[in-house]
Amino acid sequence: MIRVENVSKVFRTQRGDVRAVDDVSFEVPTGELCVLLGPSGCGKTTMMKLVNRLLQRSSGKIFIGEHDTDSYDVVTLRRNIGYVIQQIGLFPNMTVEENIAVVPRLLGWSRSARHDRARELIAMVALDESLLERFPKELSGGQQQRVGVARGLAADPPVLLMDEPFGAVDPINREIIQDEFLKMQGQLKKTILFVSHDIDEAVKMGDKVAIFREGRLVQFDAPDMLLAHPVNDFVADFVGGDRELKRMRLVRVSEALDPRAPTVGADDDVELAARKMQQAGTEFIVVLDEVDKPTGTLLSHEVGGSGLCKNFQHPLPRPLRPRDDLRTAVSRMFTLDTDWLPCTDENGRLSGVVTRRSVTQTLRERSRPSQHGSAQHEPPEHGPAEQT
Ligand SMILES: Nc1ncnc2c1ncn2[C@@H]1O[C@H](COP(=O)(O)OP(=O)(O)OP(=O)(O)O)[C@@H](O)[C@H]1O
Ligand SMILES: [Mg+2]
Repeated sequence: MIRVENVSKVFRTQRGDVRAVDDVSFEVPTGELCVLLGPSGCGKTTMMKLVNRLLQRSSGKIFIGEHDTDSYDVVTLRRNIGYVIQQIGLFPNMTVEENIAVVPRLLGWSRSARHDRARELIAMVALDESLLERFPKELSGGQQQRVGVARGLAADPPVLLMDEPFGAVDPINREIIQDEFLKMQGQLKKTILFVSHDIDEAVKMGDKVAIFREGRLVQFDAPDMLLAHPVNDFVADFVGGDRELKRMRLVRVSEALDPRAPTVGADDDVELAARKMQQAGTEFIVVLDEVDKPTGTLLSHEVGGSGLCKNFQHPLPRPLRPRDDLRTAVSRMFTLDTDWLPCTDENGRLSGVVTRRSVTQTLRERSRPSQHGSAQHEPPEHGPAEQT
């Protein structure tokens, strides 16, 4: 949908040339969100402005769909590309509602359609409807920024450019808006270029992440691949020393279930439990009731002799759910000082167990170079239940 081919932008200044974007190529398929990430001054904003032709590129080509952006007249081009600018840039003499509805009004939407759209969007960015009547100067910086996001989305453009859209929003509200935005994106499947400074935001939001340094594209990859295989020290430093922990946010518990987890019935004898643990090579076994709901656990060193499992069992550690992410799992393992946890489905039946080993192996499997470039990023909280 967005194809950037060997694009460069040189600013000619009195103090010499600034190569703000340097021979950059990448592609964002329809419906994907690509995060442009990198330190201040690396060319992110410049790259965006080349897409909607707020800046004229020095060389290279940019396509939207099949068409060279040069072949559109600039008004049509910009109407098809929502733009959330870095400096917010609300019109001070218009109310919040009028600001949001700027493009719909240009497009001739009716008053009531504009009003409905404004109300819908103000809710999406987690602001109160009463703010619609206010003027921008009566809002905080973070609130203004959210109005800017709503304005960029107002006319439902297929392509969006968002330049640090949540940068001025406090961490709690930022998480809320990010989640709302991902939910919306899951339905509407816009094609999005999204600038961020923040690796956590990039990993959470991006189907792909493009890391820039001094105008050059250093790495373009799915978040998991970026974290698992940074191409050089610059990227490794940028993504941070805790990159394996960051990867855990991208993987669901359902992907890391250990199929060998042994189970035993509550009315079975502990001798059977001991045998099963030995066969499976585990230190624990999950005790199930007659409808496969886990009721407790037994540990291998405690099951000498005989008797019913239900009379020996310990309480079960609080179970995980298949859609939890691995960071939740590992964090709970640390808290409870255990190296395994059960996972139950919505009916309370055992789905399997997660072990420290299954976590490590899952992360290793996912980062195999053979999968390079094909890893799908589906945030655990929002993606479909099954992942192939
Ligand atoms: N109009 C201009 N004239 C000259 N140089 C410019 C101009 N606009 C940007 N630059 C330079 O181009 C480089 C890239 O700027 P750009 O705004 O794209 O950075 P950025 O990655 O968006 O940074 P930030 O994260 O701080 O917003 C910088 O060195 C900047 O000083
Ligand atoms: Mg910028």
